[in-house]
Amino acid sequence: MDHFTLRDGALHAEDVALDAIADAVGTPVYVYSNATLRHHVQVMRDAVTGLGVGPDGPLIAFAVKANPNGAVLATLAREGLGADVVSGGEIARAVAAGIPPAKMVFSGVGKTADEMRQALAVGVGQFNLESEAEAEMLSVVAVAEGRTAAVAYRINPDVDAGTHAKISTGRSDNKFGIPYAAAPAAYTRAAALPGLHVQGVAVHIGSQLTDLAPLEAAFDRIGALIATLRGAGHAITTADLGGGLGVPYDRSLPAPPSPADYGVMVARATKGWDTRLIFEPGRVIVGNAGALVATVIRLKDGVDSPFVIVDAAMNDLLRPSLYDAWHDIRATRPNGETAAVNVVGPVCESGDTFATARIMDAVAAGDRVAFMTAGAYAAAMASTYNSRPLTPEVLVDGDRWAVVRAREPIEAMIAREQIPDWLV
Ligand code: LLP
Repeated sequence: MDHFTLRDGALHAEDVALDAIADAVGTPVYVYSNATLRHHVQVMRDAVTGLGVGPDGPLIAFAVKANPNGAVLATLAREGLGADVVSGGEIARAVAAGIPPAKMVFSGVGKTADEMRQALAVGVGQFNLESEAEAEMLSVVAVAEGRTAAVAYRINPDVDAGTHAKISTGRSDNKFGIPYAAAPAAYTRAAALPGLHVQGVAVHIGSQLTDLAPLEAAFDRIGALIATLRGAGHAITTADLGGGLGVPYDRSLPAPPSPADYGVMVARATKGWDTRLIFEPGRVIVGNAGALVATVIRLKDGVDSPFVIVDAAMNDLLRPSLYDAWHDIRATRPNGETAAVNVVGPVCESGDTFATARIMDAVAAGDRVAFMTAGAYAAAMASTYNSRPLTPEVLVDGDRWAVVRAREPIEAMIAREQIPDWLV
């Protein structure tokens, strides 16, 4: 469910016409709907409330990588969410947005000593360790800082999530987590390291999952491991089940399982675990809450269907190029006609293609289009390739809206670079 609707012939985000934003800010521009964000938080919360144990209920730690915009994070902070962070930068952003560090989980295979120090200094709630070498480094850093780090190991359950290979993370040949079979010995060694408090287990097998079965298979393995670890004397009090729930990009396909379906499965899989549960949803919170608005620059003949050349490109929205991802593309003022077209950006690569032979609203030069479901891994993955400034972002709330990231002038990009004396 989202709050992007056609009203009086014009596509709106809540009560604001996308064209009004585009007129004021220019294009391309990302537009987020606050009501949609809040709705998805509520849906996720309803799905998991009451699961696991502990006075505070489950921790929903938003995967900041999906959308790190400060205003988005501030919205989620107000809703009471924590954060799944994977870098010093994400820790800083989450702190700046008002997310309590105790509600943060620090994930990632390549945490540096500096990042560990930063996380310890702010008081991050849990480190999800991905290797024994990382545990040893964290122990050294924590002892030097005079602090204790609460840790979980991320377990690689060797389960195929059945999603795109580039976003599968739970197979044994992926770089993530420690091997399932190695876990008991790794926990025993970690428990003996000073500066660490071993408290949990963690798992995350991939993203945009459209089937709950691989998740449940992974959770079943984690449940068995918790019993084994407890048998060996480890007090396991937290279980972090990661993120991964898919969202509907293409409404002509069967809808992915809902958060409610997910909650029912989690209740079944975690029955009797007697741990606090942590969830790290990213896409399901922000995916449908964003649209990328672009202007049609011109049309150009193609062999089978014409090219619609828009002023957004792969640098603004990388997902179609990188994962062959499908985003619905709608005219902001549809005229009732449809046409089969190829939608492309101006970047000088054939990979800069958003849609091929797509039947969509007919558009002409000067019209605007909206790439839907562009709230997750969209602005977050933008680059300045082809010296195209990062796309501005706007947050809508009812009938008001605000620029929450300004378009960076090209002069600022140039000014960050220096030409050494010996070239002048
Ligand atoms: N937890 C961990 C440890 C993760 O690595 C991720 C995502 C999440 C949680 C959140 O997963 P979500 O609920 O959003 O599926 N750029 C790709 C997606 C990469 C996901 C990376 N990890 C895309 O555009 O599809």
